[in-house]
Amino acid sequence: MTRADVAGTWRLGDSVVNRMGFGSMRLTPRQDTSVAIKVLRTAVELGVDHIDTAAFYVSPGGVLEVGEGVPRYATELIREALSPYPQGLVVATKVGPWAETVADLRAHVEENLRRLGVERLDLVNLRLTRRGGSVAERFGALADLRAEGLIRDLGLSNATLDQVDEASAIAPVVCVQNSYALDLRRDDEMVPALAERGIAFVPFFAIAGPRREDGAHQDHDEAVRRVARTHGVTPHQIRLAWTLHQGPNVLAIPGTGDERHLRENIAAGAIRLTADELAAL
Ligand SMILES: NC(=O)c1ccc[n+]([C@@H]2O[C@H](COP(=O)([O-])OP(=O)(O)OC[C@H]3O[C@@H](n4cnc5c(N)ncnc54)[C@H](OP(=O)(O)O)[C@@H]3O)[C@@H](O)[C@H]2O)c1
Repeated sequence: MTRADVAGTWRLGDSVVNRMGFGSMRLTPRQDTSVAIKVLRTAVELGVDHIDTAAFYVSPGGVLEVGEGVPRYATELIREALSPYPQGLVVATKVGPWAETVADLRAHVEENLRRLGVERLDLVNLRLTRRGGSVAERFGALADLRAEGLIRDLGLSNATLDQVDEASAIAPVVCVQNSYALDLRRDDEMVPALAERGIAFVPFFAIAGPRREDGAHQDHDEAVRRVARTHGVTPHQIRLAWTLHQGPNVLAIPGTGDERHLRENIAAGAIRLTADELAAL
């Protein structure tokens, strides 16, 4: 059974994590909570020690609104499945979208603390609603919460390199979480630039690509299909493997609510693409 350490590790702030992680945004649409709990526990059993979440991953009523019923928060599922948390597990969350004021940011941090059931958040990404512009006030507010002991490490999401450099002058930025995939290439130059700074690049939508929230698709290019056939894996696994080949600082967080997909995603960490295959993709 392939484990999450097969793709190697990266120092993420205070922790060393396996480059193959897990994104929790796809858990909440599942109506059956026990499925989500099982997926989370299996991920950790298979060595995943970097889980991405947000207090606003909630169903129904949040960004993933589906059906009727009791709200299920990804953060609460994580707590239910994994608390008391194993040593070394990094749960990365995000705050910021819809935060108008510094007080809003504090409220978002407090909500994450409460739902995850911790006294300090491992890693908080400031989620920007638009790329460009100053982050100093909002990132400074998070740096203050970090100084207060509520947060261990900080990152940015949906950010440009200029914003990373501006924030880094305030407090260390340990990761940048942006959308990126073999057909979503806006950040080709950012990946090595962050590696030079010792900062992780954490792509989301690696599998979904331009379909974004709509999720995975079967409409793969012939090159992706061909490479998948050569390796005896699925095109989705090739999409994921491609991201890991973009730099040693790339940390994958594929999102799934399906245990079979989880195992396939972890196995994708073992795929070694040749230079010719990378050029074709
Ligand atoms: N910073 C941000 O603004 C931001 C935005 C979006 C997401 N994120 C984070 O990034 C993570 C990844 O993004 P994402 O979940 O939207 O997209 P993703 O990982 O690119 O793809 C998820 C989609 O692919 C499917 N899938 C996963 N593994 C598969 C496999 N092996 N074979 C076939 N289909 C597969 C999932 O459905 P199934 O459930 O059926 O497997 C889902 O439809 C999220 O979970 C979230 O934690 C961050």
